[in-house]
Amino acid sequence: MSGDGEYWEKNARRYDRATLLLNKNFSGMAQAVADAVAGSEDVLEIAAGTGLVTAAVVPVVGRHIATDRSPEMLEVLRGRLDGQANLEVRTADALDLDFEDGTFDAVLVCNLLHLLPEPWWRWPKLGVSSGPEDACSLPPSATGRV
Ligand SMILES: C[S@@+](CC[C@H](N)C(=O)[O-])C[C@H]1O[C@@H](n2cnc3c(N)ncnc32)[C@H](O)[C@@H]1O
Repeated sequence: MSGDGEYWEKNARRYDRATLLLNKNFSGMAQAVADAVAGSEDVLEIAAGTGLVTAAVVPVVGRHIATDRSPEMLEVLRGRLDGQANLEVRTADALDLDFEDGTFDAVLVCNLLHLLPEPWWRWPKLGVSSGPEDACSLPPSATGRV
């Protein structure tokens, strides 16, 4: 895998099958993320990809904004979650977000940090928690500014 946008353009349609095949714990991880943010009013998901985690989170939160740098990955997400009234989908780079401070109750970043070219040791300063599930979430006080 790569942080290179071209990789995700080419592999967006294969991502779900490969991911669920290689990571037998993925559904459990997605459910753990959903449980952690359940009841939040405003949630930002960075690098949402095809929406495998988004699908678990959207039903249990208020407004959910799913972002990713790859339009192709988001196209698959839209197909999966078409008609979810509380979901907004936006193309956005994780390293160039322009949300106002304090916009979100929870910010999710799942399976992205290892792909970032920039040293992601900056992220723990924001209170990133990273568990064995390879999922990360920021605490309620965090904002979309990374
Ligand atoms: C391994 S997938 C994870 C997708 C989803 N979070 C999941 O867990 O299934 C990585 C995703 O990160 C996205 N990505 C890579 N670099 C990014 C960046 N700088 N900003 C936003 N998204 C990025 C890719 O387009 C891809 O959808």
